[in-house]
Amino acid sequence: MTTRAILRKIPAVALAAFIAAAVLAACGPGKAGKEPAAAAQAAPAAHEPVLAPVPPMGFNTWNKFGCEVDETLIRATADAMAETGMLEAGYKYLVIDDCWQVARGADGRIVADPKRFAGGMKALADYVHSKGLLFGLYTDLGTKTCQGRPGSFGYHDIDAATYAEWGVDYIKVDWCNADDLDARKEYTSFRDALRRAGRPIVLSICEWGRNDPWSWAKGVGQLWRTTADIGDNWESVVWIINANSRHTAAAGPGGWNDPDMLEVGNGGMTFDEYKAHFSLWAMMAAPLMAGNDLRAMTAETKAILLNKEVIAVDQDPLGVQGSVVIERGYGGQVWMKPLADGSKAVAFLNLTNGELAQYVRWSQIGLPPGPAKVRDLWAHEDKGIHTDTGAKYDERLEVKVPAHGVVMVRIWPGQ
Ligand code: GLA
Repeated sequence: MTTRAILRKIPAVALAAFIAAAVLAACGPGKAGKEPAAAAQAAPAAHEPVLAPVPPMGFNTWNKFGCEVDETLIRATADAMAETGMLEAGYKYLVIDDCWQVARGADGRIVADPKRFAGGMKALADYVHSKGLLFGLYTDLGTKTCQGRPGSFGYHDIDAATYAEWGVDYIKVDWCNADDLDARKEYTSFRDALRRAGRPIVLSICEWGRNDPWSWAKGVGQLWRTTADIGDNWESVVWIINANSRHTAAAGPGGWNDPDMLEVGNGGMTFDEYKAHFSLWAMMAAPLMAGNDLRAMTAETKAILLNKEVIAVDQDPLGVQGSVVIERGYGGQVWMKPLADGSKAVAFLNLTNGELAQYVRWSQIGLPPGPAKVRDLWAHEDKGIHTDTGAKYDERLEVKVPAHGVVMVRIWPGQ
């Protein structure tokens, strides 16, 4: 298929995101601090590569371990990421969330817990890097983190310089004890401190959607939370999907809506529910940060987190956040995400408590009338050619979706 033919099949919004990314790439990065505010927001500093052309993937300690973090866990997790195939599947950031820090020294520098991280953060980062992974930490823009540890308020430059010295590649920046501050201003100040520190560090904005980050966070950070914290239960996943789906236009190469980290493998949901959770995160081009114990994964958990066909949908370079194209009104939704090669990822989501038949017409997902190749991304099976000329109702593609589950397919127009 020619480039023009592919472009004809991409909806306008996707095309706009694609063109924006291409223009950015062609024009090169802007100069920090010189442009009008809007341009400064969008353009990376001269030394800064585009840090997240696709949604970041990795692991974060919070969902499973909370404050129970130490260097033994981090080293073993790094080993597991390399040995289980997680790294190879794309999970490259290993991020320590809250509770690694205990104090500030007389020089103002943040101090890692000397008991739990006796070897120091630099040595730990070196170990993580030696596995081919990237290293991440957590802070907060208030005086204290959510768990009462020292925050970065008043210490943006010292902290950024410290992270750069330690070899940090990713910083999650929380918003506890900061509500009276101006979020856009504070996160921008933190970004500027990271730039001055001179090391490319992904900035993960975590103010839970309180200050409408979808309207300003692109160019400040590479991902921004859109919702309150996820819980390891189906209700939470459904609420978050709904909330995150309202901000589709904000996502694209370089900046992503973050519906929070994954709960896959933590035990609170069924296999089908976890598959739906993971599928919808991929459909929404969400960052994929595993939040389970990677040292002890069941075969089912691995089958989800290591599903390369679903991951490829998430990581597709077109970078469009998929959305609901059909809302059935009785608990069935059809989601579509256009992909760079002209194909469409389609997820049939069943929110009801029983099996549901779901269906779609090519005209509803932007495919031309005629034949198309269908592949099931969970069964890992080609379903052959399905033809929908648009002439007859029974030409629709129909699937049976389990309760609280999904069927996810990828469809290529043509034979
Ligand atoms: C907030 C964040 C969580 C986690 C905790 C740590 O609740 O939203 O993701 O980082 O703080 O205290």
